[in-house]
Amino acid sequence: MIGFFDSGFGGLTVLKHVVKAMPEYNYLYLGDNARVPYGNRSEWIIYEFTLQAVDYLFKEGCHLVIIACNTASANALRKIQQEYLPQNFPRRRVLGVIRPSAEEVAESTSVHKVGVLATESVVAARSYIIEIRNQNPEVQVFQQACPMLVPLIEAGERDWIGTDMIVKRYLGELFAEDGDIDAILLACTHYPILYDVFRRNIRPDVAILEQGPIVAKRLKDYLSRHPEIESNLQKRGMRVFLSTDKTEKFDKLARIFYGEPVSSKLVSLESICTI
Ligand code: DGL
Repeated sequence: MIGFFDSGFGGLTVLKHVVKAMPEYNYLYLGDNARVPYGNRSEWIIYEFTLQAVDYLFKEGCHLVIIACNTASANALRKIQQEYLPQNFPRRRVLGVIRPSAEEVAESTSVHKVGVLATESVVAARSYIIEIRNQNPEVQVFQQACPMLVPLIEAGERDWIGTDMIVKRYLGELFAEDGDIDAILLACTHYPILYDVFRRNIRPDVAILEQGPIVAKRLKDYLSRHPEIESNLQKRGMRVFLSTDKTEKFDKLARIFYGEPVSSKLVSLESICTI
């Protein structure tokens, strides 16, 4: 099974593309909707929450876990890979969404100045500045924190006029830094849910990069290069959705964001955590 974790609904925007590219695998999605947003929390609490979720997914039988959340990837991925994994599940893997997205930007010949829209904690960690510069120092990286967007998305306010106004304000701040930004990276997995809002508020010549297709393409490539991981993944096309909060709300919004009917189960991360 491939596990997917996000603080809430955002990871569904990645899962949707991964399932489309590789429908044969079994997928287990976990949204920590009870504790979302993570983006304005401290590094150590994001690490604790992420560790609980990853531990849960491994104990449910996932051999590969994708942290489909930039905030959790920025604050917890490395420590989980270096400390938790070798001690607990040395033959399994956990991957994030920042490295593949940064690689995509760095390798693109059409992106020279990229605007990274993300949560406060991703901006504070400067993860994209570091990763993109490491791979291609020619690309200039500008960052904009958008703290109000995740709560709006989790509340289902995609079509509210206020959401447009808030997006406009964040974009205004970003483009005030440099009007020649040629691409925007939606570096929070929740933001593609507002893709249309971004599109109508950005000049048509500015590209909008979503992480779903990027992660799907690079994950497929990763699995083809790692048969020792791939061979442990069951292929019965099963999808299971778990949420730490109201399943009725999860099912209603997930259906819109994931694009297919979803029937989720309620789980508690705190009570099962043994770490
Ligand atoms: N989807 C998460 C991300 O990619 C949202 C973080 C949050 O919970 O604030 O960063």
